[in-house]
Amino acid sequence: MKPTRIAFIGGAGRIGSAIIDGLLAAKTFRPGQILITARHPDSLALWRKRGLRCTVRNAEAVRQAAIVILCVHPEQVAEVVQEIAGVLTHRQLLLSVVTGLSTATLEEIVGQELRIVRAMPNTPVMVRQSMTCLARGRHATARDLEIAQRIFAAVGEVALLDEHYMDAATGLGGCGPAFAFKIIEALTEGGIKVGLARTVARKVAAQVLKGAAELVLRTGIHPAELKEQVATPAGCTIDGLAKLEEHGLSIALIDAVETATRKATQLFRSGGPEEKILDK
Ligand SMILES: NC(=O)c1ccc[n+]([C@@H]2O[C@H](COP(=O)([O-])OP(=O)(O)OC[C@H]3O[C@@H](n4cnc5c(N)ncnc54)[C@H](OP(=O)(O)O)[C@@H]3O)[C@@H](O)[C@H]2O)c1
Repeated sequence: MKPTRIAFIGGAGRIGSAIIDGLLAAKTFRPGQILITARHPDSLALWRKRGLRCTVRNAEAVRQAAIVILCVHPEQVAEVVQEIAGVLTHRQLLLSVVTGLSTATLEEIVGQELRIVRAMPNTPVMVRQSMTCLARGRHATARDLEIAQRIFAAVGEVALLDEHYMDAATGLGGCGPAFAFKIIEALTEGGIKVGLARTVARKVAAQVLKGAAELVLRTGIHPAELKEQVATPAGCTIDGLAKLEEHGLSIALIDAVETATRKATQLFRSGGPEEKILDK
């Protein structure tokens, strides 16, 4: 990648910092190419200590960057846009990880046509294992999408979607790690209940999910078939699986994804940040 400058607006937060960490580890960008902003100077202290360029002045960061990544919460977008709208131009690529904010709405609140690529990464980006879904806005070019793909491919897997599916990508990919952590936590407790030491139980539970996931991804075999391979007739696994069904694990997970997706569609609606921003 060319020595392009990239500005992370709200980059001191969880997802921004995780992406920056991943990109530095992957050497996609050198520290000198990265600009980070936050609302409070204290939030930037750790990055400053690591020698990265930090500021609380968003416009100053945007002015210096060819690529801008918006990493703030939906309700923080209005304030940020007020600061940067005057310096953002069509020459820059704008990546947005803001949940529920469509590229069309973002263009509308900035008040100009912009090259936007919307991204939905997740926190495993910290260990370069993100699942990032990307969608191209109306004015983004094929090259813009390629750049976004290269950035997020450095920190995990990437899927290209039509923007229509980005809320679903949020419900499954963005929120999914929390659902998986809950499963790891519960399996750990199961292990503790049957006598395993806490640290052993957590390691076994986490590695079980990692190993099972790798098996699905590498072999392409349907999870139901892999499940059948473990469940010996009259064995112990089928008894455990029957308990999961009795307690409704499948429907609970389906519901969790559907509910999180629905919430993502509402974040910028009726009385929410979208209305406040468009009213300005
Ligand atoms: N966390 C995830 O798993 C995840 C995954 C995908 C997408 N997202 C989306 O990413 C966005 C950020 O989430 P997050 O979890 O990283 O939130 P976060 O940890 O709360 O970080 C938000 C950051 O934005 C900064 N900020 C707020 N107002 C600002 C302003 N006016 N100017 C500059 N910086 C400002 C905050 O600065 P201060 O620290 O100084 O307050 C903070 O560093 C959200 O839209 C979220 O939905 C999150």
